Amino acid sequence: MEYISLGRSGIKVSIIGLGAWQAGGKAWGADVEDENILKAIKRAYELGINFIDTAEAYGNGHSEEVVGEAIKEIGRENLVIATKVHGAHLRYNELLKAAEHSLRRLGVKEIDLYQVHWPDPWEQIPLKHTMKAMDQLYKEGKIRAIGVSNFAVRDLEEARKYLSATDIVSNQVRYNMLQREIEEEVLPYCKKENITVIAWSPIAQGALTGKYDINNKPFDDVRRGNKLFSDHNLKEISRLIPVLGRIARTRNKTITQVALNWLLREGNVVPIPGAKNPKQAEENAGAAGWRLDDQELKEIEEVLKGISLDYF
Ligand SMILES: NC(=O)c1ccc[n+]([C@@H]2O[C@H](COP(=O)([O-])OP(=O)(O)OC[C@H]3O[C@@H](n4cnc5c(N)ncnc54)[C@H](OP(=O)(O)O)[C@@H]3O)[C@@H](O)[C@H]2O)c1
Repeated sequence: MEYISLGRSGIKVSIIGLGAWQAGGKAWGADVEDENILKAIKRAYELGINFIDTAEAYGNGHSEEVVGEAIKEIGRENLVIATKVHGAHLRYNELLKAAEHSLRRLGVKEIDLYQVHWPDPWEQIPLKHTMKAMDQLYKEGKIRAIGVSNFAVRDLEEARKYLSATDIVSNQVRYNMLQREIEEEVLPYCKKENITVIAWSPIAQGALTGKYDINNKPFDDVRRGNKLFSDHNLKEISRLIPVLGRIARTRNKTITQVALNWLLREGNVVPIPGAKNPKQAEENAGAAGWRLDDQELKEIEEVLKGISLDYF
């Protein structure tokens, strides 16, 4: 496994992490079982993955509880735990309370990376109050580093102004081969400022594994409404899959591993694929330790250029 520092924090995380939204429960499908998620986390750890991402929002705290079980089994010191405050808990006092609840569910004294899940669009709570609470938690030693999620550059710039004791170390945003919006502004800014980009939906919720097509779609609560799985988009994506498959075969890798490895080409990106079972965790861990070469990246770029997704 390869490891990088989260921003300037010096906290070393595996270049491939593990997303634990799936641990929240059946929203990701009837096949989700706590026991299998625990096995997935343990298998990931055996293969060098030390970075687990959860959130109070996932299964209303259940994901944090499952991650808490994994921490007990694996050992606190062996894992870097990232969680997030819900976008509805961004007032100063609410945020402090939310952090206490997360600490309890996780069974830890300190959260390694505490993230603002998304900037508040509804209640107009000034970012100043939210970041002041994050700063306070950091000063009290309840969190080791501050991160944000789904922040645009303007949000990042503003949020950083309100921190007195430390800086933002990461921004968790959607990033995969098919959904590259962050490349325009967020990624260059984060690279320049040494803010790690944590990539959510790195395999496009399964659309980049090669197992879904118009006759086989995921129908769980999370993905039923995901436009990536429309007939049109799956047909578009079906032109990419054989190219990834060919590259995968020559490398003795899988399509999923190629899709994840593609995200490592920038150097400042940590994908956190979600896994439901140890087999998926194992496959995802195999995306580290090698790199696609320039020719392969070019081939992928060529086919991506011709893909036109429709979100309407
Ligand atoms: N900050 C945010 O706003 C935000 C938003 C979304 C996600 N996240 C975080 O990012 C993590 C990952 O994103 P995501 O869960 O949306 O999408 P993802 O990681 O792109 O896709 C995960 C899904 O892909 C399938 N899968 C995983 N590994 C596989 C493998 N090796 N082979 C075949 N299928 C595999 C599994 O579902 P099936 O087996 O059922 O296909 C799994 O549930 C989440 O767990 C969460 O921690 C954060």
